[in-house]
Amino acid sequence: MSTGPAIRVKGITKSFKDVHVLRGVDFDVETGSIFALLGSNGAGKTTLVKILSTLQKADAGTATVYGVDVATNPGDVRESISLTGQFAAVDDVLTGRENLVLVAKLRHLKNPGTIADNLLARFSLTDAANRRGSTYSGGMRRRLDIAMSLIGNPAIIFLDEPTTGLDPEGRLEVWQTIKQLAGQGTTVLLTTQYLDEAEQLADRIAILHKGTIIQNGTLTELRQLLPATTVEYVEKQPSLEDIFLTLTGDTGDTDDDHADNNLPARKEIR
Ligand SMILES: Nc1ncnc2c1ncn2[C@@H]1O[C@H](COP(=O)(O)OP(=O)(O)O)[C@@H](O)[C@H]1O
Ligand SMILES: [Mg+2]
Repeated sequence: MSTGPAIRVKGITKSFKDVHVLRGVDFDVETGSIFALLGSNGAGKTTLVKILSTLQKADAGTATVYGVDVATNPGDVRESISLTGQFAAVDDVLTGRENLVLVAKLRHLKNPGTIADNLLARFSLTDAANRRGSTYSGGMRRRLDIAMSLIGNPAIIFLDEPTTGLDPEGRLEVWQTIKQLAGQGTTVLLTTQYLDEAEQLADRIAILHKGTIIQNGTLTELRQLLPATTVEYVEKQPSLEDIFLTLTGDTGDTDDDHADNNLPARKEIR
C-alpha cells in the first residue's frame, strides 16, 4: 500500500450533455504532498473532485486511490478519503464542539467528546468551542469544517476551494491549517482559482484548462517556463500569475487563443 502514488488519475473524461468538461485528465498525487489543481471558474475542478471522491462517475478513464478504483470500489475508497466541499458544512445552530461530536457519532466512533476536544485544540478553536457556528468568522468556520472532515483520520483530504470567500486573515488561518495537515502526513488535494494560494501551499501545481492538464510541475519548474525579466539590473522571477495567464492565453485582453505567444521554447515538465 505504501508504494505508488496516493492518487492516480488517467484519461478521465466527463461531459454534461454536449458540454465536454473534462477531456482526458492525467496526474498523480504523491503520498503526504499538497497538490493544487488550479483553474478558472467553470474549469471542471469540482467535477473532478466529485469523481475522485466517488460522488460522480466519469465517462471514461480511471482514477485510483492507493490503487483502489474509485468507480468500481467506491466504498473502499471512501474509507481513506474525506471531502471538504466548496460550501461549509458547519451547522449554525450547533456549537463548534457539538458539530464535531455529531460527526464523530455519525461515524460510530468511541469517545466523540474526546475526539472533538482534541480537534478543537489542534485547530485553535478551544476558546470558541461552546459558541454557535453562526458566531464564527469565515476562517474559523473553514477550520471547523476541515476539522470535521478529519474525524476518522482519512489519509487523503480533498479541499474544494478552501478559501473562496474568506477575508485575507481567514485565508492565512486556513493556509496554516492546510500546511499543518500535510506536515502531519495527510495527503492534500486542493482546488483553487487563486494563484497565490497554489504558490503558497502546493508541492505540485497542475493547471486545468479547457478540459485537460496543460502544465503540471513544482513552482520552480513552472517558473522555468517563462524567462526572468530584467528590470534595471534586478532579476524578477515570473509570478505564478504571469505563468498561468501566459499558459491559458488569458492575458486580460479579450482574445483567448494565443496561449503560447509569450512563451519561450516550451519545456516539458515531468
Ligand atoms: N451536474 C451538472 N450538469 C450540467 N453541467 C454541469 C454540472 N456540473 C457541472 N457542470 C458544468 O461543468 C462545468 C465545470 O463545472 P465545475 O466542475 O463546477 O467547475 P469549477 O469547479 O472548476 O468551477 C461548468 O460549465 C458547469 O456549468
Ligand atoms: Mg468548483
